[in-house]
Amino acid sequence: MATEKPELLRVEHLRQYFKSGHAVTKAVDDVSFSVKNGEIVGLVGESGCGKTTTARSVIKLYNITGGKVWFDGELISAGTWDEQEALRQAKAALKAAAPSEKAEARARLLEAKAKCREAEAQSKALRKKYPTVTQIQMIFQDPMASLNPRMTIKEIIAEGLRIRGMKDEKKISDMVMDVLGKVGLLPEHANRYPHEFSGGQRQRIGVARAIIMEPKMIIADEPVSALDVSIQAQVINLLGSLREEMGISILFIAHDLSVVKYFSDRIGVMYFGHLVELAESDELFARPLHGYTQSLLSAIPMPDPHYEKRRKRIIYQPPQYTPEEEADLALREIFPGHFVRCTAAEAERLKGQAQ
Ligand SMILES: Nc1ncnc2c1ncn2[C@@H]1O[C@H](COP(=O)(O)OP(=O)(O)O)[C@@H](O)[C@H]1O
Ligand SMILES: [Mg+2]
Repeated sequence: MATEKPELLRVEHLRQYFKSGHAVTKAVDDVSFSVKNGEIVGLVGESGCGKTTTARSVIKLYNITGGKVWFDGELISAGTWDEQEALRQAKAALKAAAPSEKAEARARLLEAKAKCREAEAQSKALRKKYPTVTQIQMIFQDPMASLNPRMTIKEIIAEGLRIRGMKDEKKISDMVMDVLGKVGLLPEHANRYPHEFSGGQRQRIGVARAIIMEPKMIIADEPVSALDVSIQAQVINLLGSLREEMGISILFIAHDLSVVKYFSDRIGVMYFGHLVELAESDELFARPLHGYTQSLLSAIPMPDPHYEKRRKRIIYQPPQYTPEEEADLALREIFPGHFVRCTAAEAERLKGQAQ
């Protein structure tokens, strides 16, 4: 079972906020998950819910706002949001403190300030120590947009090796030919240009460019969303074979559940910057607990006329939480390995329903 393998990626309380003027977009807001060695994890949610931002934060294209990311046992990124939040609270507490409590509140504020400075230093040190993560490679939705039209396939695939400083032309050629074979392309494709290929073939080029770097993990960001349905399965099978043959872990991002269903060991569902449900695939499909997951499932057509006749599209209506409930929302484990973002009271209710 996948659950016994050691973790390759661990993301804890990740926050990625974007400021523009006074407005703040909380693109990723307290997201935690892991990907084990050799595991395929699906990340699903509608457009704009923060999937790409999560991926870009993990590979260090952004300085993360908050939370921590571990890769292969090493802490590679740390944000400072939690410490800054504690500092904000300490400041507010000092302001509100009665005269007799001021001294203690002031001491707490100093402590919070020191912790903030420590966190900032750690965040900066990690940016310096791990400026990029080449052990994680990305594959993108639109292969054409990510392939330079003026470069041959060989040059595109070899680019990462050259950036890494490889100069041995013979070795580069051998490696390119090797990965072309692995992704189902032919040696003579090496000297052609991206426009000479179909969408599915271009996505194979994208995969070749990623695996030549010998990554431990691939993040595939909607890699089949732009492809014909008939081609989607081919690319998905190719990614599946990378896991089988090379042991590569995959974080597979998609906007609907049907694509990831048969392919993922576990699935995380995102909604407005939050991870709202996380479970093994079969479990998620058999027992979806979050209203948003239920609505996503209800949108999947099935090749069963009886089911189709009964299938009702559920429209998700987010519950109205009080500010206290809102503050209590967290990802909670309802059944072993099955997590839902809910309040403590909701968690008790969900656990009770199963009995
Ligand atoms: N660089 C950025 N600056 C400001 N806002 C951004 C940036 N990148 C993404 N966003 C916003 O963050 C939210 C999540 O975007 P994204 O991660 O691309 O979603 P998804 O990949 O799930 O469609 C969106 O509201 C988007 O507009
Ligand atoms: Mg996206």
